[in-house]
Amino acid sequence: MAQNIYDQPTFFEGYSKLPRSVEGLDGATEWPAMRALLPPLAGLDIADLGCGYGWFCRFAAGEGARSVLGIDLSERMLDRARAEGVSASMRYERGDLDRLELPAAAFDLVYSSLALHYVEDAGRLLAEIHRSLKPGGRLVFSTEHPIYMAPSRPGFTSDGEGRRIWPLDRYLVEGPRTTDWLADGVIKHHRTLGTTLNLLIAAGFRLDHVEEFCPTEAQIAARPELEEERDRPMFLLVAATR
Ligand SMILES: C[S@@+](CC[C@H](N)C(=O)[O-])C[C@H]1O[C@@H](n2cnc3c(N)ncnc32)[C@H](O)[C@@H]1O
Repeated sequence: MAQNIYDQPTFFEGYSKLPRSVEGLDGATEWPAMRALLPPLAGLDIADLGCGYGWFCRFAAGEGARSVLGIDLSERMLDRARAEGVSASMRYERGDLDRLELPAAAFDLVYSSLALHYVEDAGRLLAEIHRSLKPGGRLVFSTEHPIYMAPSRPGFTSDGEGRRIWPLDRYLVEGPRTTDWLADGVIKHHRTLGTTLNLLIAAGFRLDHVEEFCPTEAQIAARPELEEERDRPMFLLVAATR
């Protein structure tokens, strides 16, 4: 069973204050880049894995998706998603991505935003997603970038001359990483970039786009604190096709 840190009250409370929780998709710096990877959503059958508050599910329903299934491990996240409104084409289910079984050839698009790094066995999940897509169906996901996840102390430091340093270590040591983000003892699962891409290929996907996300010039101009994001990628964005 996965950790389900989002149901922990302190974590849930902290998460609810993040810009992406308050402002939704517009509060997520990487959303424009994710959106650019999506096909037109009208008429599609879609699954959103690790749907959280359901921002993407509501967006997809609004774009005219035929059906949208949001899956998340956290009851609190799902309660909040349901409270925001469930239209006729939408439904939410509780599920653990480490054990999830999906119907075969059921979806045109599987979407997942920032949930894959909580999954221990990504190979199993990617194979399950591949099986659940209709031929030609798409997978679009984001995950924490492995350079962001790998360090034993993931925070900027400074060298003797005042240069900002990202303290990358243990990059080639895959496995769990425990951080104290919003709550103590949050467990994520580090995989190298090569491992993630090879798992996709082994599952049978064709890779369409791989992006080591960097905010745009315009985003950095509007929010100068984003400048430090140029020093290491925080997110990995991938689009693939069955
Ligand atoms: C960073 S949040 C992202 C939420 C949403 N996708 C978004 O981008 O706003 C990660 C979500 O993944 C969910 N999650 C983490 N581990 C999971 C697992 N093993 N199975 C299903 N959902 C999981 C969490 O409960 C949380 O809602």
